[in-house]
Amino acid sequence: MGSVSLKIGDGTARFKRATLCSSAINILMLFSVITTNLFALYAFNSSPNHRLHNPFHHRNKNISLISEQVSLIIKEIDSSQRKLAQMEKQLLGYDTLDLSRPNLATELKLFLQNHQLPLGKDSRTGITEMVASVGHSCEKSADLLSQYMSYKVSGPCPDDWSLAQKLILKGCEPLPRRRCFAKTVPKPGLTSLPVSLWKSVNDKAVTWSGLGCKNFNCLNSKILSRDCVGCFDLVNGYETQRYVKARSKIEFLMDDVLAMGNGGIRIGFDIGGGSGTFAARMAERNVTVITNTLNVDAPYSEFIATRGLFPLFLSLDHRFPFYDNVFDLVHATSGLDVGGKPEKLEFLMFDIDRVLRAGGLFWLDNFYCSDDEKKRALTRLIERFGYKKLKWVVGEKTDAAWSGKPEIYLSAVLQKPVRI
Ligand SMILES: *[C@@H]1O[C@H](CO)[C@@H](O)[C@H](O)[C@H]1NC(C)=O
Ligand SMILES: *[C@@H]1O[C@H](CO)[C@@H](O)[C@H](O)[C@H]1NC(C)=O
Repeated sequence: MGSVSLKIGDGTARFKRATLCSSAINILMLFSVITTNLFALYAFNSSPNHRLHNPFHHRNKNISLISEQVSLIIKEIDSSQRKLAQMEKQLLGYDTLDLSRPNLATELKLFLQNHQLPLGKDSRTGITEMVASVGHSCEKSADLLSQYMSYKVSGPCPDDWSLAQKLILKGCEPLPRRRCFAKTVPKPGLTSLPVSLWKSVNDKAVTWSGLGCKNFNCLNSKILSRDCVGCFDLVNGYETQRYVKARSKIEFLMDDVLAMGNGGIRIGFDIGGGSGTFAARMAERNVTVITNTLNVDAPYSEFIATRGLFPLFLSLDHRFPFYDNVFDLVHATSGLDVGGKPEKLEFLMFDIDRVLRAGGLFWLDNFYCSDDEKKRALTRLIERFGYKKLKWVVGEKTDAAWSGKPEIYLSAVLQKPVRI
């Protein structure tokens, strides 16, 4: 039953299955928590009075004894209260997002409510309820989320894609669905493949709201990131030469890398792919590439789509929505550097490894190594995966448009081994 697929363990919060039995247990636990609290209250109120009436010498000792008891009781009350709050959430049916908080948009509550399956338990999956999922980190941004979910049902959605992206960047991913019409953008001058791959995109074909620039001329004069220096300029500049002409030995040619795949490269995934030029060059070679991108400071997603390529609007904190061992190739640039603790990059690398098939290629392309330690840490991490190093080049590069200073980069083509 495709329609009842659950996002379980996917960084998404989910509903508990409420059964008759678990409700009974909940009520029993509620009862026991209340009695514990009553006893505690009794002990707290009665014993001090009782003891203070006896004026004896051991008084100090007794007082410390009493305060010890009191602090134990307070601890007990605290933990009971925590249990109670937890149970309240469970009774509401939601683990992490507190739907009882005030000022929460009604649409959000409606979206998240669990719905019983009309025919009862599904025999194949054992599921009794339809579940709507939303990122568990949404709890941290409940006010923004509520703002996002405040709109007129069946009316036009507010022009708020940048609010949505802000939520995603705060880990609120996936976002809830909405029942409003997203703003439509006319797409003048669309062409068919392969012409569309290199045709300049009309300013009117993308949304500029929430962005500093309001046209492509403005974007082309800006340095957006290490992987996108003038990357929206498909006429002048370097973009047209990428992957077909090398400026240094850390820039590999696409045909050389494809040759290492022995003709078995048909589908690929590009991480941090800028304006989609990698996917465009691959499309010319009949390889289908999905480009992972957000719209940080530029309309990447719409630009890529206008070129006739597949943009995937997903942050790198999200588990890739692909099954294991499906891609022949994964390409990543400096965008792979997620910062934070080393474990963060590890989680990402394991996910890349998961979606790449055995014998598939991982192309690490011009990865910026801020210092020697960074390079060593990355090398150690990659070596732990046991990939075959088909190409491995560390080199210095000076990008006049970027910093103008020499910087260390690593480029590599690695082949995933068969693990038994
Ligand atoms: C202190 O404790 C002793 C022994 O436990 C008891 O005999 C005495 O009455 C207590 N004194 C006070 C002031 O509570
Ligand atoms: C891509 O596929 C088309 C149609 O099958 C074919 O004509 C063309 O030669 C292929 N191009 C490459 C580079 O393999």
